Amino acid sequence: MKKRCETNGTDRREFLQTSARFAASAMLLGLGGVRSLAAASTDTAASSIPSVTLNNGVRMPRLGFGTMTLKGDPGSVADAIALGYRLIDTAMIYNSEEAVGEGIRRSGIRREKLFITSKLWKTDMGYEQAKKGFQTSLDKLNTDYLDLYLIHRPSGGDWKGSWKAMEDLYHAGRIKALGMSNADFDQMNYLIANSEVKPAVHQIETHAFFQEDRQYEYLKQHGIQMEAWAPLAEGRNGLFTNSTLAAIGKKYGKNNAQVSLRWHYQRGIVAIPRSQQHGHRMENLNIFDFALSDADMAAIAPLNLHKTQFPEWS
Ligand SMILES: NC(=O)c1ccc[n+]([C@@H]2O[C@H](COP(=O)([O-])OP(=O)(O)OC[C@H]3O[C@@H](n4cnc5c(N)ncnc54)[C@H](OP(=O)(O)O)[C@@H]3O)[C@@H](O)[C@H]2O)c1
Repeated sequence: MKKRCETNGTDRREFLQTSARFAASAMLLGLGGVRSLAAASTDTAASSIPSVTLNNGVRMPRLGFGTMTLKGDPGSVADAIALGYRLIDTAMIYNSEEAVGEGIRRSGIRREKLFITSKLWKTDMGYEQAKKGFQTSLDKLNTDYLDLYLIHRPSGGDWKGSWKAMEDLYHAGRIKALGMSNADFDQMNYLIANSEVKPAVHQIETHAFFQEDRQYEYLKQHGIQMEAWAPLAEGRNGLFTNSTLAAIGKKYGKNNAQVSLRWHYQRGIVAIPRSQQHGHRMENLNIFDFALSDADMAAIAPLNLHKTQFPEWS
């Protein structure tokens, strides 16, 4: 039996190859510091981000780029793609879909190399409205399909009708995978029991201070990929200066953001950190050349406060 070096099925050889490829491209990026070098190495860096196979066979990068608040900032999106991010997370309500579309255009990367997620907002619930909302997102993104489409907040309205519309769009090849965001257990149970197309992903708030262990076990049990929004808790509760994360990071020459993202990765959770800073975007990608030990993982577990850090959105 091959020796496993981490929890999510990556064997040691694959891990070392990934690390070596990433270290080479990170060095190139770091030394060059100019866009042409970044562009030259972009495929190498991208291939260093492992992917996961969803329950319908679609492959999804295990680390992506969040775009909430990046309205009007296509430069950040283009730079993220140049650095090697391939999963870009947006939503109608962020008002960032046009910036994402423009960032993709500027990046020069072929559409099929990217994994684009958007989300249906509360005001577009119901079968007909969902189809309209979807088309508006496509138009803003300047694309003709989405890799992943989520119901953003199924809190009221005919979200079941929306799901039906999404299923039809899925069958028509306009959406490659369907998912939920911020759903409760009843809603997930309903879809698992009744839908034609099962949810492939559930995107929820998850970080060191809100570890969502129940959802974690539930999603694993049902073969649904967990995806973390606010994987860095937006820095709330002092995440970037937390002494436990800092002590762990010191051993590997990594900062608290990198330890946090590595922690998600080793739990098998897809994370989509956002940053408006080139340096942070690079740091957040540079998590594949070290591994947290079992003791490190155990030290992070008690940071769980078992409650949202975003009560204003509950
Ligand atoms: N489905 C939902 O309901 C939902 C809700 C919220 C978010 N989301 C999605 O999840 C994505 C990520 O969540 P988020 O944007 O709320 O927060 P986040 O990614 O947890 O944190 C973003 C914050 O962390 C800072 N940061 C990033 N990298 C850093 C680093 N290496 N060192 C220090 N600071 C760093 C950023 O500042 P700088 O810009 O200065 O780097 C920014 O202030 C969103 O953009 C969005 O796509 C989904």
